[in-house]
Amino acid sequence: MENEKKKEIVFSAIQPSGTITLGNYLGAVRNWVSMQDEYNCIYALADLHTITVRQEPAAMRKNILDAYASIMACGIDVEKSIFFIQSHVHTHAELAWVLSCYTQFGELSRMTQFKDKSAKHADNINAGLFTYPVLMAADILLYQADKVPVGADQKQHIEITRDIAERFNGIYGNVFKIPDGFIPKNGARVMSLQDPSKKMSKSDENVNGCVHLLDPPEVIMKKFKRAITDSEASVHYGEGKDGVNNLMAIYSAVTGLSYEQIEHDFDGRGYGDFKTAVGEAVAETLRPIRERYEQLVKDKAYLEDCYRKADELALKISSRTMNKVMKKIGFVL
Ligand code: TYM
Repeated sequence: MENEKKKEIVFSAIQPSGTITLGNYLGAVRNWVSMQDEYNCIYALADLHTITVRQEPAAMRKNILDAYASIMACGIDVEKSIFFIQSHVHTHAELAWVLSCYTQFGELSRMTQFKDKSAKHADNINAGLFTYPVLMAADILLYQADKVPVGADQKQHIEITRDIAERFNGIYGNVFKIPDGFIPKNGARVMSLQDPSKKMSKSDENVNGCVHLLDPPEVIMKKFKRAITDSEASVHYGEGKDGVNNLMAIYSAVTGLSYEQIEHDFDGRGYGDFKTAVGEAVAETLRPIRERYEQLVKDKAYLEDCYRKADELALKISSRTMNKVMKKIGFVL
């Protein structure tokens, strides 16, 4: 149709390092799923990113396939979207090298995730950990993405991607689309249930702090019942109530209820009731994902068929940008 708007391009990726968390789901992956009708969506399993931290080979192989099945189980539709494995598409590492020559040491030094991760892995502050945002910029820019659905912790990485793209375009003309982050209003920063000052993360030392996508309902209930709150025993959003605020954000994200409605519904009721309600709502949200995962993970041939097809499409699309970049710089093609 003549006046039908061309669909915008969405790109995002997730690291397959360990299991997927409720934070990954609410902050990013469920938007990947909901954006599939309106946009041309391209998603990747960012396995190259994971080796900035030392991985055990057998566990890494398993994590990659499990993560692929888990994300598919969240509702990725391979008829609509491309979901590929980053290391299978060689343009990513190539563009990352090129862009690293257009990225300043100073701007990478300011990345808070680099500072945090180098403090955490003080025995292995490798160059990849430092140049990690350049690989992420390459991922996004290769597909000329308009929107990048991510959680709030990736905001700085989207900003540096835009800076790198603008710098490159400033020298060579319009090579890259300048992407926008797409950060949800609700669920953009899910915090640890045990220490609500820290984001929920699979590397949380306290197992009760992090809800995994594939946790069975009884484990989910146990984690929510043990969640840290405060001594006020009143369900409302407020300063100094990080634990309750986090539970309200999670509950609102999974039920769609506003904070006012939640406060109204739990007026005069204690935290016990509220924690049970949040646990049940999360368990109910994750139940179909876990069931679908159990089926998918058994079908290795189907999964392989999905990622091989997606890898091929991703290579085809990204090669267009890569060729343009090489030509503009002055390489002989
Ligand atoms: P990763 O693998 O750490 O996380 C995947 C996605 O989940 C979001 N997220 C959260 N959202 C809300 N609350 C939390 N507690 C939480 N923890 C994680 C992240 O913001 C992310 O959107 N560098 C990226 C992966 C990546 C990427 C890319 C993303 C590689 N290339 C290109 C976008 C575009 C990362 O490590 O995400």
